[in-house]
Amino acid sequence: MAAHDDKLKAVISHAKEYGFVFPSSEIYDGLSAAYDYGQLGVELKNNIKNYWWTAMTRMHQNIVGIDASIFMHPTTWKASGHVDAFNDPLIDNKDSKKRYRADVLLEEYMAKSEAKITKEIEKAKNKFGDAFNEEQFRATNPNVLRAQEKINAVEARMKAALEASDLVALKQLIEDCEIADPETGSRNWTDVRQFNLMFKTELGAVSGDAGIIYLRPETAQGIFVNFLNVQKTGRMKLPFGIAQIGKAFRNEIIARQFIFRMREFEQMEMQYFVKPGTEMEWYNYWKDARIQWHKALGLGNENYKFHDHIKLAHYANAACDIEFDFPMGFKELEGIHSRTDFDLKKHEEFSGKKLRFFDPETNESYVPYVVETSVGLDRMFLAVLSSSFVEEKLEDGSDRTVLRIPAGLAPVKVAVLPLVKKDGLPEKAKEVVDLLKLDFNLQYDDKDAIGRRYRRQDAIGTPLCVTIDNASLEDNCVTIRHRDSMKQERIPIAQLHEAVREVTGLNQYFK
Ligand code: GAP
Repeated sequence: MAAHDDKLKAVISHAKEYGFVFPSSEIYDGLSAAYDYGQLGVELKNNIKNYWWTAMTRMHQNIVGIDASIFMHPTTWKASGHVDAFNDPLIDNKDSKKRYRADVLLEEYMAKSEAKITKEIEKAKNKFGDAFNEEQFRATNPNVLRAQEKINAVEARMKAALEASDLVALKQLIEDCEIADPETGSRNWTDVRQFNLMFKTELGAVSGDAGIIYLRPETAQGIFVNFLNVQKTGRMKLPFGIAQIGKAFRNEIIARQFIFRMREFEQMEMQYFVKPGTEMEWYNYWKDARIQWHKALGLGNENYKFHDHIKLAHYANAACDIEFDFPMGFKELEGIHSRTDFDLKKHEEFSGKKLRFFDPETNESYVPYVVETSVGLDRMFLAVLSSSFVEEKLEDGSDRTVLRIPAGLAPVKVAVLPLVKKDGLPEKAKEVVDLLKLDFNLQYDDKDAIGRRYRRQDAIGTPLCVTIDNASLEDNCVTIRHRDSMKQERIPIAQLHEAVREVTGLNQYFK
């Protein structure tokens, strides 16, 4: 745990020091769970968006994008179920006055038993070596069996209580498990209550309930209400998708762990409209496509796993998360949900408008089913940043901090460095800048010794440094230095544009 905390702290301080992420309104001591993306952060964020948008729209001829407004007619949220059901079950500790999500307390309790199991398995693995059979060990070891039984029992009771919205049973479970306030150890709990996560505000000069409007808690509803507009104007045939990137707002109770859980965040969502009955096929297709999208970045396949939902959201008939190994451990990065025809049917009911697709093959019209993929942009940012952050010892004994950001996402693609600030080298370097600047975000740097300039670029994740030296004036060649291997090669300036494109282009992720 301590190592996790240290890693997260180091990432947060690095992100601030180099202009990736700042606390919001910091001169007023900040605002909890709100962050600002700095000069490099916004570049990384835009590159992640671009990777997602390219994968969704350019790589799929049948997926188009939209940009819906954040404010929507308030009936949207009544229809979607968010007014009545977008709640978290909360519990307060009477002694510490700290507030927790009841389900999270229980999940953390189960995670502790899971950790015990993992420890037993690791111990046995070391003892038995190659002869170790994990399946058999899980089925026979009394300690593992006891821990697993405990998890299963708590999971079953939690699922039943959540599904029945039985808050009394949820509190009873917390008491039966003897769960204490993680910070103070107190077991003096209030009852569990439901708390709606939507932010409300008022529209124009209308006061009272009539003027209430919500900040959208997901971008998906902007897609559903535009289903027919896009289908008709784009002459889309099933299956087809609508993609959107935009802000969402949730009044999260426990907003912590940096940009992992914020009250204002960004989602990249795609709703895929399919013929009823084919939704499981497409659900599996998108599970596969999305995990491949993540893994193509090369952050390490072992950092991802699927987690099937115990409690399905009110709209879903199948759902899973792609979890990522963040500094705090494995946590949700993306959700993939088979949402059935719930949303479109509800919008039909509440708006009185037909939201159907006329199938020319069968001459019927029906409400399509929907498979949704939804990834948090800020979580994706944290996944990239935290897994790229490395403090390493070099062969010569010196240290370097390097962000091994996938080159296609790196905020600065190339640094242009004249070896010295005289003898015509800056002028030659400016020629190189002009050659590259339209297509690649670059930095020009002529201050300090070259080694220090390399380190500065390593620390912000620049994949390539181009050095111009005296020989460059004669032979029109430059030295390219690669961030990860630190290897250097000399190439003609005429080949530079193509060389930078090869290393930093998005095409490497679409093989
Ligand atoms: N339309 C479906 C939907 O919104 P969700 O699982 O609630 O599903 C999807 O959210 C994704 O949005 C999550 O996997 C996560 O990456 C991101 N997300 C959700 N709440 C967040 C928060 N408070 N801060 C940052 N990202 C969040």
